[in-house]
Amino acid sequence: MKKKIPPKKRTAIYPGSFDPLTNGHVDVIQRALEIFDEVIVAILRNPGKKYLFSTQERLEMIQRSFNGNDALKVDAFDGLLVDYARMKNAVAIIRGMRAISDFENEFQMALMNRKLHKDVQSVFLMTGLRWIFTSSSIIKEAAQFGGDVSDMVPEPVKLKLMEKFPLLKAGLRRNPSEKGRR
Ligand code: PNS
Repeated sequence: MKKKIPPKKRTAIYPGSFDPLTNGHVDVIQRALEIFDEVIVAILRNPGKKYLFSTQERLEMIQRSFNGNDALKVDAFDGLLVDYARMKNAVAIIRGMRAISDFENEFQMALMNRKLHKDVQSVFLMTGLRWIFTSSSIIKEAAQFGGDVSDMVPEPVKLKLMEKFPLLKAGLRRNPSEKGRR
């Protein structure tokens, strides 16, 4: 009898800084999980860059936000993204696309990655309209001065932001009903 070869698992890498994870990232991850068998969220470890959250904190926040989904893995990497993708036998690199301002940088990065590793495809997923102006940096900027960002990040991220920014914690205690009103 002819041996049946199981279909190849299609793995995609979703790389980024995730400092911290936002609902825009969550939206992209959910879309990627509909297309690929496995999605690895890969946090860049870049000693030359200053992050608000340590690699371990970023990793744990993502794990907690997706508790129990076996198709999703969270990992950290350093060095070239394509080397990491090769090591994981990934067929695709996922990037989220928001406004047109993302395009130039993403295009450049995708072409460089293709030059370095022709067998991995860059796949761009558009975030839901709701998250089109959401970014980790704008969230940190608002949160540090007490701005309510609680409907822009998953709950585990909100709790960690409150730990980092006392003004945010105080503001959310004062106005709990503000949450989710916009
Ligand atoms: O969330 P970010 O900061 O926009 O993610 C950028 C990231 C991590 C995808 C990019 O900086 C990256 O891939 N870095 C790894 C180094 C690398 O492979 N560089 C060559 C491709 S431009």
